[in-house]
Amino acid sequence: MAQPEGSSIQDRSSRYTIAIAMVAGLGGLMFGYDIGVIADAKIGVAKAFSLSTGEIAMVVSAVTAGSFLGALIAGRLCDAIGRRWTNVWGGICFIVGCLGCAFSVDLTSIVVFRVVMGIGVGFSSVGGPLYIAEVSTPWSRGAMVSLYQLAITVGIFIAFLVGLLLDPDTQWRISFGLGALLGGSLIAGMLVMPPSPRWLVGRGRDEVALGVLQRTLGSDQEAARELKAIKDRVREESGERFWSALKGSLAVRLALILAIGLALLQQASGINAIFYYAPEILQDVGLGDQKLKLTAALGLINVLATFIAIWLVDRVGRRPLLLGGTALMMVSQIVIGVTGSMLETNEASGVSAGGIVILVSIFIAIIAFAFSLGPLVWLVISEIFPAGVRSACVGVATSFNWLGNYAIAAGTPWAIEQSPSLAFWIFAICNAVTIVFIYFRMPETKGVPLEDIEAFFDRRKTLGDDSPASA
Ligand code: BGC
Repeated sequence: MAQPEGSSIQDRSSRYTIAIAMVAGLGGLMFGYDIGVIADAKIGVAKAFSLSTGEIAMVVSAVTAGSFLGALIAGRLCDAIGRRWTNVWGGICFIVGCLGCAFSVDLTSIVVFRVVMGIGVGFSSVGGPLYIAEVSTPWSRGAMVSLYQLAITVGIFIAFLVGLLLDPDTQWRISFGLGALLGGSLIAGMLVMPPSPRWLVGRGRDEVALGVLQRTLGSDQEAARELKAIKDRVREESGERFWSALKGSLAVRLALILAIGLALLQQASGINAIFYYAPEILQDVGLGDQKLKLTAALGLINVLATFIAIWLVDRVGRRPLLLGGTALMMVSQIVIGVTGSMLETNEASGVSAGGIVILVSIFIAIIAFAFSLGPLVWLVISEIFPAGVRSACVGVATSFNWLGNYAIAAGTPWAIEQSPSLAFWIFAICNAVTIVFIYFRMPETKGVPLEDIEAFFDRRKTLGDDSPASA
């Protein structure tokens, strides 16, 4: 679809669409808060319940187990009750989980409520990007879905700030409790938002869908055209079920391989080894005195660098940003690996030049992630599937992201104990794999209407080994 010449985000997409993306983004705040809050709060939790390293890893990773489950259920829920209500239920679970953690009395109760928090985040991580992608215009969809990632980063940063302001030893319960406010805002915001037009058409509510499209596209003519395109696709796909679509369509299989691959590789980049365990890593390289302030600074740079993606994604496209960012992240991890091995043999005490090199490289790795794998994986997953099976496929792919997140949360303390530099070498190798995977398997979807994206994968079917780069 042609992009209007020389227009800014504001004129390309109505304020209404931006408002919708921001409300759905409140789910991203929850997502981020739950990742960030544990970095500092686990210090107090470990003391309160006298936890071993393995038990701390269990508290950290419990949320990802819940999110895995939540994402799997959400794929179905998004079809049954709609994207909007899936988000509302996400908010409800998150509130219950946060308050439960705040009042937990032992290891079991905090693990159980971390799982409940996770289910809420799992709902939102499927329902949020899907909802935003379906209400956005083709020419602003990249920036709009990236707002969800921006919200994740803001959520992580807020949690780090809370960790800095409250004493993690004694006030960790308050840190958890404050998360309930985010769940409450998501529920309140979602209740006044319209349902996704694509979901409405699937339910036969074309009139309401037309009304939503008129408001998001800002033109009656465009809205009528878009409604027709959606109806044509929905009719073609009516009755299509996840398993039959998977068996019957090469396009769906290829899209699912791409989505699952991206979801897993986003986690294999090692970003959450940094966010979950930043204080420990900083301590290891001799920066223990400043660890909480530096952790908050890492959170801030993550927020700021996400704007690079919002600004560029609909201009330069998905592939250049993903390939460039992943390569930069890999190089900074190799620098950390090399410097880390030297520090280990020199037994660092206090801040050394090596410690500073590692710190700067961690900042660069976060910037690189924030303008590439962070936002773009959510974006690509939400836009490459045909409408009939979109939510089920997004749910499956997202649950793999949480599986990867779980492995990182549970495995990183072990890897750090062996050798922090080894962990970064492994992440660098994974990023090299990601570059090859994206290069060969991912088509460029910049500016293409959702209804037409499936054709890229179909084209591979008819043209054989047609390069995805040229798709
Ligand atoms: C990832 C999270 C990560 C966050 C960091 C998200 O895209 O899915 O796992 O913690 O980015 O900003």
